[in-house]
Amino acid sequence: ARIALRQLLDHAAEYGYGVPAFNINNMEQGLAVMEAAASCDSPVILQASKGARAYAKDIMLARMIEALSEIYPAIPICVHQDHGSDEATCMSAIRHGFTSVMMDGSLEADAKTPSSYEYNVAITERVTRIAHWLGVSVEGELGVLGSLESGTGAAEDGHGAEGALSHEQLLTDPDQAVDFVARTGVDALAIACGTSHGAYKFTRAPDGDILAMSVIQAIHLKLPNTHLVMHGSSSVPQEMQDVINRFGGRMPQTYGVPVEEIERGIRNGVRKINIDTDCRMAMAGQFRKIASEHPEEFDPRKFLKPAMDALGNLCRDRFERFGTAGNA
Ligand code: G3H
Ligand code: 13P
Ligand code: NA
Ligand code: ZN
Repeated sequence: ARIALRQLLDHAAEYGYGVPAFNINNMEQGLAVMEAAASCDSPVILQASKGARAYAKDIMLARMIEALSEIYPAIPICVHQDHGSDEATCMSAIRHGFTSVMMDGSLEADAKTPSSYEYNVAITERVTRIAHWLGVSVEGELGVLGSLESGTGAAEDGHGAEGALSHEQLLTDPDQAVDFVARTGVDALAIACGTSHGAYKFTRAPDGDILAMSVIQAIHLKLPNTHLVMHGSSSVPQEMQDVINRFGGRMPQTYGVPVEEIERGIRNGVRKINIDTDCRMAMAGQFRKIASEHPEEFDPRKFLKPAMDALGNLCRDRFERFGTAGNA
C-alpha cells in the first residue's frame, strides 16, 4: 500500500528508527529493493530523481510502482520525488502518484544569502500548502551539501562551484532551521552536515572535523519534532570499491559516511537516509565481475540477477542497521 512520508516518519520517530530512501531508475532496482524489504518486513521509500523520471518515463515508473505494490501488498511504500527543483517538478510527480516530494529550494543558490533564503522559504511554503491539500508530504532542504575538506559545494549538483565556501555556509544553521520549518510547514527537513552526493565524499575516514554530526544534534535539540533527512548518506563500502577495482574498474580510494555515524544520526532525529551511490556500486561491481569471469556471457539477465542480489543485500543490511526491519 502507498503511504505518505509524514505517516511513515511519524511512526519511525515514535519507535526510534530510520528509513533508508533508495533511488531507483528501473525495474531491477525496484524489484531488488522490494524483495529486500519483504524479506525483513520493512517499509520502504522509493525515490526518483528528475533524471530517473526522464530515463524511465513517468508512466513507466508510475505503473511499475503500482505493480510493485501489488506484488508486495504487505509492504508500505512511500514514493518520493528526490530533489524537485521547482513547482512543476513537484506537481507533476504528485499527478503520477508520488506520495511525497522534495522541494529543494536550496539548489537555486547558497541559502545563506538573504535573498536566496527568502526564495527557498517562499517556494517551499507554496509547494507544501498545495501538496498538503492533496495528502502529499514535503521535504525541504536548508544548507549547501558539500565538502568541508575542500570547501566546495560542487558535489551538490555536479557543477563546479566558483570560489570556496566557508564551514558556516556548508553547515545548516540551527536557528535558521527553526525559522524555515515554522514558515514552510515542511514534514521533513534535509540538512547539510558535510556530506555530499556521489562516491568522493571524503579523502580519509571522516572524523568530526569533516562530518559534522554535532550539527544534527544541535538542530534536533531546537526542532525535536521535525524529521531530519541526511542526503549523501552512502557509505561507499571498501569491499564494493575492491570488487569494482578487482575487475577492471578504476575508482580512486575514497571514503563515505560510516553506518555507525548514520546510526548516531538516527538517535538524534534523522528519519530518512538518502542512498544512491552504494546501490549503483553494488550493481556495477557485479556487472564487472560477470563480464570479467564469463567473457562468453551476453544474456543481460546473467548480469542483472547478480546485480539485483548485491543491491538486495545492501538494502537488507541498511534496513536492519537503521531499525527499519520489522516495522512494515
Ligand atoms: O541526488 C542525487 C541522486 O544520486 C540522483 O542522481 O540525478 O543522477 O539520478 P541522478
Ligand atoms: P549518495 O550519493 O551518497 O548515495 O546520496 C544520494 C542522495 O542524497 C540522493 O538524494
Ligand atoms: Na542544498
Ligand atoms: Zn540528495
